[in-house]
Amino acid sequence: KYKAVIFDLDGVICHTDRYHYQAWKQVADDLGIYFDEEINNRLRGVSRMESFEIILENYYGSMSQEEKTFYAEKKNEVYKELLKHMSPKDLSQEVKETLAALRLKGLKLAIGSSSKNAGFILERLGLSGYFDAISDGNNITYSKPDPEVFLKAAQFLSEAPIDCLVVEDAKAGLEAAKAGNMDCGAIGDGKTCNIATYQLDRFSDLLEIVEG
Ligand code: G6P
Ligand code: MG
Repeated sequence: KYKAVIFDLDGVICHTDRYHYQAWKQVADDLGIYFDEEINNRLRGVSRMESFEIILENYYGSMSQEEKTFYAEKKNEVYKELLKHMSPKDLSQEVKETLAALRLKGLKLAIGSSSKNAGFILERLGLSGYFDAISDGNNITYSKPDPEVFLKAAQFLSEAPIDCLVVEDAKAGLEAAKAGNMDCGAIGDGKTCNIATYQLDRFSDLLEIVEG
């Protein structure tokens, strides 16, 4: 019934949470801002600058736009350094096999991620060139929960949004799929918000869902 599957990247195809945490933690510590894993969980699916705004909720000074950009860039430098630890070994066998099986069923596969590092992460995972389309933080104006990133992915695939299934681990991403009129499957932490069309206990559950 679906013609394409659009995957969020961080938290769905791979796990970059702890790298985001370590990098933001370094910036937060430099600025004397309280930051913990719970706050880090709120950054899922949220763009880099919006993430920093959430972190700054615990900052009691004032900061100019230039300074905000400076610290966000600093975070990204640390983050990119940490991403170099990633390799094709960080891609699970289950994800690899499920993607291949979906493709065999004739489905188009795309990435729909808020990250500006999506291309680099895919390269680290050995997935450069694997997806039929990549829509990421570099081709959008509005970040999730706005549906733009997923609508662009559907457009890049030349498919109607209604024929696409989105897979997401973040509330902002599930809301984005809904707003784009797309069915969505929630995985991992995404299962705690009950707005998804399907709940995925495992990544390979996708195979049953696309069978209809
Ligand atoms: C993903 C992650 C977020 C991150 C965002 C931007 O959506 O889940 O935690 O803030 O990408 O990432 P970037 O790599 O562009 O800083
Ligand atoms: Mg995610």
